[in-house]
Amino acid sequence: MTRKISIVLSIFFLMLIIGGSASALTPSEQLGKSIFFDTNLSVNNNQSCAACHGPDAGWTGPDAAINAGGAVYEGSVAGLFGNRKPPSAAYATPSPILHYVIQKKEALFIGGNFWDGRATGEVLGSPAAEQALGPFLNPLEQALPSAAEVVARICVSTYASLFTQVCGSDACAPANVSAAYDCVGLSVAAYEGSTEVNQFTSRYDAFLKGQIDLTKEEKQGMNLFKSKGKCANCHVLDPGPNGEPPLFTDFTYDNLGVPRNPMNPFYSEPAFNPLGFAWIDLGLGGFLASRVDYQQYAAANNGKMKVPTLRNVDKWASALGPQSKAYGHNGYFKSLWQIVHFYNTRDAKPPCVSAFTPIEDALAQGCWPVPEVPVNVNTKELGNLHLTRAQEDAIVAFMKTLSDGFMP
Ligand code: HEC
Ligand code: HEC
Repeated sequence: MTRKISIVLSIFFLMLIIGGSASALTPSEQLGKSIFFDTNLSVNNNQSCAACHGPDAGWTGPDAAINAGGAVYEGSVAGLFGNRKPPSAAYATPSPILHYVIQKKEALFIGGNFWDGRATGEVLGSPAAEQALGPFLNPLEQALPSAAEVVARICVSTYASLFTQVCGSDACAPANVSAAYDCVGLSVAAYEGSTEVNQFTSRYDAFLKGQIDLTKEEKQGMNLFKSKGKCANCHVLDPGPNGEPPLFTDFTYDNLGVPRNPMNPFYSEPAFNPLGFAWIDLGLGGFLASRVDYQQYAAANNGKMKVPTLRNVDKWASALGPQSKAYGHNGYFKSLWQIVHFYNTRDAKPPCVSAFTPIEDALAQGCWPVPEVPVNVNTKELGNLHLTRAQEDAIVAFMKTLSDGFMP
């Protein structure tokens, strides 16, 4: 074979591999993708999952103005907002079915989806699949009236034949709504678990594979992340349950003592929040209280939120405008440095006069507002870490290596 032909051939095979891996979705994953991006699956035909989980924003909220303020998203119906910040829809699928283990005589809850774990995975065997069935029918999100309506809309969509191929030839028959709707959830979860969503293509991944080196500051940050910063206690750097690269979460729950976000519009939505400004988000404890079998553990888990993955935590494509993300379950923090500074100094600064002090004011006044939920606050692993400003910055630099889409 001449050299020229062999080069042409290798380029051809290379393109096959690249093209293949980009479009190598299974029919079920492809169906889930079509559903994930379909704005017709909302009451006013104006909102898909991606409205609150944009790939360019690391599968979280892609609206800079919203992130800079209340950080919770408006649903399909104008003026109605959810009460929490959208977490990443990527890297959510490896979360196990919600369960507990007894540790030091206390029940330690692990797994589930949502900040409070209420998509347990017990029914469909997958928290992400159960999670996916929520937003379509949530009046503050896609707001459709019934599962039958979701299925009916899919059955007249451009991908209707893919739906019956994946979910069964009788999936559009009215008598089969329940099974068809479960199949919708499982397909969305299949997409969320695909290599298109869970890419593991950050600079950190390239570093783990020995393809690139990190800068001195990034490596210093990585070491602080594991040692003095104690971050890896919860955002673990061990391989995932199926040997995946680190997921940066152990899927447990903790109350960090995050303050209220005074700009959260949910405080002023009386129809959904009769408590107004007295409302507090009880997180896992609130969900456990709703379950007969878990009620006894509710009080000890009030205020605890699921440890989020830190993958893509800095990801923000320039197409979205200047970077503006929000961090924490209510989006109180507006930059990575701010939340690291909170871990570092929560207990070292005095409490602010008002529990409703926005982050910029708290920083200017040298105080932190009291926790939204003052019980069960973790004082062992955070609060007064004695990190220097340079060490805070190094930890931030390390987190910035976790954005997918890096080509070595
Ligand atoms: C209006 C905004 C909005 C829309 C639309 C929306 N989500 Fe979400 N999503 C959120 C919020 C807010 C949360 C956290 C809610 C909570 O914890 O109570 C969330 C949580 C999640 C989670 C949990 C992640 C984890 O680690 O626990 C996944 C996965 C997810 N959404 C996927 C989807 C899918 C799939 C759709 C479409 C069917 C969708 N979302 C539509 C706002 C939205
Ligand atoms: C005790 C467990 C624990 C430790 C230790 C910990 N975290 Fe977290 N982290 C959490 C939990 C739980 C949340 C969500 C809390 C909330 O919003 O109420 C969170 C949220 C975050 C977020 C926001 C992510 C998002 O998408 O909103 C960032 C960033 C973060 N942690 C970074 C760090 C860094 C850096 C350290 C070390 C300095 C650290 N964490 C230490 C448990 C922990």
